[in-house]
Amino acid sequence: MIWILGATGRTGREIAAQVAARGGTPVLVGRNAERLHKTAAELGLADVEVIETDQPAAEIARRRPAVVVNTIGGYAETAVPIARACLLGGHYVDLANDLVAMPRLLTLHDEAVAGGSTFVTGAGFGVLGTEAVVAALCADRPTPTHVRVDSMASVAIDGGQLGEALAQSIVSGLTTGGRRYENGRMVPTRLAADPREHALPDGQTAKSAGGPTGELLAAHLASGAPDVVATSGLMPTAPVVRALLPLAGALLKIPVLRRFAVRRMAAIELKPTPRPREHSWGHAVVTWADGTVREGWLRAGEAMEFTSSAAAEVAVRLDRGEGRPGAYTPARALGPEVAEAAGGTTYQP
Ligand SMILES: NC(=O)c1ccc[n+]([C@@H]2O[C@H](COP(=O)([O-])OP(=O)(O)OC[C@H]3O[C@@H](n4cnc5c(N)ncnc54)[C@H](OP(=O)(O)O)[C@@H]3O)[C@@H](O)[C@H]2O)c1
Repeated sequence: MIWILGATGRTGREIAAQVAARGGTPVLVGRNAERLHKTAAELGLADVEVIETDQPAAEIARRRPAVVVNTIGGYAETAVPIARACLLGGHYVDLANDLVAMPRLLTLHDEAVAGGSTFVTGAGFGVLGTEAVVAALCADRPTPTHVRVDSMASVAIDGGQLGEALAQSIVSGLTTGGRRYENGRMVPTRLAADPREHALPDGQTAKSAGGPTGELLAAHLASGAPDVVATSGLMPTAPVVRALLPLAGALLKIPVLRRFAVRRMAAIELKPTPRPREHSWGHAVVTWADGTVREGWLRAGEAMEFTSSAAAEVAVRLDRGEGRPGAYTPARALGPEVAEAAGGTTYQP
């Protein structure tokens, strides 16, 4: 049984559908039984079990599901208690993509090993779509000196409210500031540093700039490179906006302003908008001390669809017992081929 926490949300409902499509048994978990039953009916999963609870960790510890997928967000606070509730033997997956939540989950590695559980953080387009490319480029090679990864998601907007989970993620990114690895250490940089316009393999173009994303950590772990830069197409690249980001980040560190911003942002009504490009792209350039440079790409469709497929694929594989005990990013837990199984195509020009 694969519990989906936050199953009424955008990603939760899609992951439930993808788990069922892969032959797994999803259980929809949330705070309101009526909304959960409505979601189940809309997904054509009217027979699946629903669990209403506002204490998911306690419920997990009591009923011991095989796998838990956490889509309730706020991962910096929710991931560790929910993952620990999965011990002993239960597995945990989340969609975190920031440099606060992901390291916290990864520090549970020894507990997970001792408990025979697999914890996977970053099961989404950004982390998996870039770490899978880095892992493929670095296979059977010595440790490189430099890695650059670029994550260029093409995201369709359904419409409706932005929601608190996403608002919290955006504000958390702004307050963290930029990061990169230098000489093996993660160091602060300007937010939206290293902007670049990319010529994509399908003839289109996309811009990206540096942010405090999980891609950075995952690329460092996948390569061992001392110098790593990670950029995202979701970061602003316009010079005026980039200039204002440090001020916005500083203001949002003030708790009352932060709470206000999250509330206001969560209530923003989004207009339905088609994805800007047909494909989402993960990209990596790896450089070795002897001057060798290798480049690779991962092509996916709509990024949220890839994310939902990735989380479902990881969950189903863990349910089948394919994981090894410990706390990992997705490709390190299950191999880079999990990105292909989630709908990505990797290649090197
Ligand atoms: N890494 C990636 O590529 C990626 C991609 C997409 C999303 N994400 C992240 O995944 C998370 C979910 O995104 P989303 O777009 O699916 O959000 P969403 O549509 O707002 O859904 C979140 C769901 O979680 C439940 N929830 C919210 N707060 C809760 C709480 N305190 N306790 C229990 N349940 C709670 C809500 O369900 P009820 O109110 O019905 O209980 C809601 O439906 C966000 O953190 C987002 O940043 C990551």
